[in-house]
Amino acid sequence: MDMNDITKEIERLKKEKNAVILAHYYTNDEVQEIADYVGDSYALAKTAKNSDAEVIVFCGVSFMGESAKILNPDKTVLMPDMSADCPMAHMAETEVIEEMREKYDELAVVCYINSTAELKCHSDVCVTSSNAVKIVKALPNKNIFFIPDENLGRYVSEQAPEKNVILNNGFCHVHVSVTADNLIKIKEKYPDALVLAHPECKADVLKEADYIGSTSGIIDYATNSDNEEFIICTESGVSCELKKKNPGKKFYFATSKHFCPNMKLNTIEKVLHVLETGENEVNISEETRRKALAPLDRMLEIAK
Ligand code: 13P
Ligand code: SF4
Repeated sequence: MDMNDITKEIERLKKEKNAVILAHYYTNDEVQEIADYVGDSYALAKTAKNSDAEVIVFCGVSFMGESAKILNPDKTVLMPDMSADCPMAHMAETEVIEEMREKYDELAVVCYINSTAELKCHSDVCVTSSNAVKIVKALPNKNIFFIPDENLGRYVSEQAPEKNVILNNGFCHVHVSVTADNLIKIKEKYPDALVLAHPECKADVLKEADYIGSTSGIIDYATNSDNEEFIICTESGVSCELKKKNPGKKFYFATSKHFCPNMKLNTIEKVLHVLETGENEVNISEETRRKALAPLDRMLEIAK
């Protein structure tokens, strides 16, 4: 089957099964092209919650499919590739969370949505990179244990100096692959370019940035800016939407390693396969789902 036939068959099956396809900006261009909605983690969680489709095909990584299922217990959530996982989602320990709760009075455990359902069960509120600062500031608690990402946690603590943010040592291997040395060299090569960085990047990289924000934030910033050139410090998949919205502008990536192998496991062939077969359904026990729903709902409520 060529790409045209695959696309046509996906369209037909989507109608037949009342399915919607959601894709993150880090997936392959061809996946973004066939998706009904492409977005950052927050927009995708909201879209999943508000959709009236019976089947959600989630082109992303497992914490995204899990979150969609947690928010929509009555819908079928399918993942094109069940092995697409985010290593950072596992980089916190429930024992450490409980130790922190013992150690600090009135602690809020703030959990980046890039986390397993189990970690969410032990957390008070979820955040994404687009709403983390707003949500942490809105919490009544002074003591915040931010899991799993250390770099996003540090960025939030700088933006909310009134809070005591305790950091955890998780990281995204894709975003930490950008080094400040590398970025400074690229800035010298393109002196007129603005640097747009994701807060999962290291602190010394963020210091060099003109703008720090989520994938949607970066795309919106570049689109609304009068500048013509940008150095992008996030996964290369965002170039699909950046180029679509800004055909005349130039985008340079801070490193060629800006490639999330898990996001790239999603392909249109696999989307077609799960629509045809119903394979790769996300299932979560009702107890886990109920516990993990509370911090996700709280995020959606505060971020509104
Ligand atoms: P956002 O799209 O929410 O900025 O998330 C980045 C990310 O790493 C998703 O895996
Ligand atoms: Fe996880 Fe990083 Fe890939 Fe996002 S880019 S899914 S945080 S490994």
